[in-house]
Amino acid sequence: MPVATLNMIRLDRRLRASLQSQLYRQLRELIISGKLQTGIRLPSTRDLVGQLDVSRNTIVYALDRLIGEGYLNSRIGSGIYVADLQQPTPGNRTQSAPRSVPEQVQTSRRTVATANASISPTYSTSRVRPFRPCQPAVDHFPLRTWNRARSYALRSQSNDMLREGDAAGLLRLRRALAVYLQDARGVRCDAEQIVITAGAQQALSLVATSLTDPHDRVWIEDPGYLGARAAFLAARVNLIPIRIDNEGICIPSTRKSPRVIYCTPSRQFPLGTTMTLARRLALLEFARKNDCWIVEDDYDSEFRYVERPLPALQGLTGHDRVLYAGSFSKVLFPSLRLGYLVVPEGLVEVFRKAKEIGDAGCATIDQATAAIFVEEGFFSTHVRRMRKLYRERRDVFLETSSRLLSGWMKFPDIDAGMDATGWLQSNASDARISRELAASGVDVPPVSAYSLKTSPPGLVFGFTAFSPAQLRSALKAVAATMKL
Ligand SMILES: Cc1ncc(COP(=O)(O)O)c(C=O)c1O
Repeated sequence: MPVATLNMIRLDRRLRASLQSQLYRQLRELIISGKLQTGIRLPSTRDLVGQLDVSRNTIVYALDRLIGEGYLNSRIGSGIYVADLQQPTPGNRTQSAPRSVPEQVQTSRRTVATANASISPTYSTSRVRPFRPCQPAVDHFPLRTWNRARSYALRSQSNDMLREGDAAGLLRLRRALAVYLQDARGVRCDAEQIVITAGAQQALSLVATSLTDPHDRVWIEDPGYLGARAAFLAARVNLIPIRIDNEGICIPSTRKSPRVIYCTPSRQFPLGTTMTLARRLALLEFARKNDCWIVEDDYDSEFRYVERPLPALQGLTGHDRVLYAGSFSKVLFPSLRLGYLVVPEGLVEVFRKAKEIGDAGCATIDQATAAIFVEEGFFSTHVRRMRKLYRERRDVFLETSSRLLSGWMKFPDIDAGMDATGWLQSNASDARISRELAASGVDVPPVSAYSLKTSPPGLVFGFTAFSPAQLRSALKAVAATMKL
């Protein structure tokens, strides 16, 4: 609880009432009305003397009276606090009353377009339960090393850390990322082409608002990532769901070419397909011929368990049509809210400005800490460790699910990523099964929740954030609920 400011107190020496009684009445009124909430600490007597310009005795007598009447509590050595009056005050009454929504709220068309959108499926609890997809094992994150890097950044560059930074992001982090992305993902870029964003989600929103106009056609993988759909819906584009086959996103033969194509080539979300080289080249050729942009969302490519990852689409010829989005959410931790967008040279200024207008840039201290993490090798050590941990968890998941769920559900090989989509029989309702499993404590969103068109029924299982024991017991719960 913060310390109250008591800025609302006005004492007037011209009034007949004494200063002490004015103070008593005003404080009591603030407490009864709920403007001073239960538990808030009052400033010290000494601070009040300076602030209200009255004697110490005036304050002490007024406060003592309120303590005696039960409005305030005094805790020795720690201060004076507003007491819990144990009766609904007007202040806490309004908090618990349902908010009344005026019948016809005037909002923008953009708001109406996103009224039913959201960046993830709806869960019955905010707790991360097995098998919520896309969750890193945050309990294995090296927090002490992170904190040391953070303290070091603050100590060594204290004033720069506190001043406003470049909206496009801290140059040190962009340089470190440029080296990492070229080396690990074959992305062609220099630091100038990178904009640091608030997660990949903001990268997608910036693309949607900077490169499209309302009603422009945008091709989007279907089933696909809900956050991408929401970002483009907010830009009021004409979303066209595009089918995925075993080579990745299909390229429809159409004369109406899109403005933007959104795809996840390294590992299609949520189906897990890796886009083949032939399809990548065909997509780049299509984009070149039809003058459209490709958004490559490379959100979890660090986690590949067999052979080496295919280089990014952006690194192939034709990279001047590709915007490459990446994220620290899976490789570090999601609440960090740091991601990045690599843009073609001609768009550098467009995106720097969009980020500046959007939020003026991400927190410098977090960027500096992430830069040290990458530069000093903590990042690659952590990725290596997590890849090993996730591979072990994948093995436990596949072994147990094939023992307990086979016959009911089929899993393809899991070569990469953080989740696995299991396929149900074609007449099953994945939404109904997902609801039943949620009621027994297991979160497996249905493939239909990610689809605009009708999709084959399936369930998406995240396996990375859960220990082998949790995986086994949750799979047993699935089998028991489904009476397998
Ligand atoms: C396919 C895909 N892209 C992007 C993201 C968003 O990542 P961020 O947390 O960086 O916004 C996610 C998050 O789960 C995702 O699954």
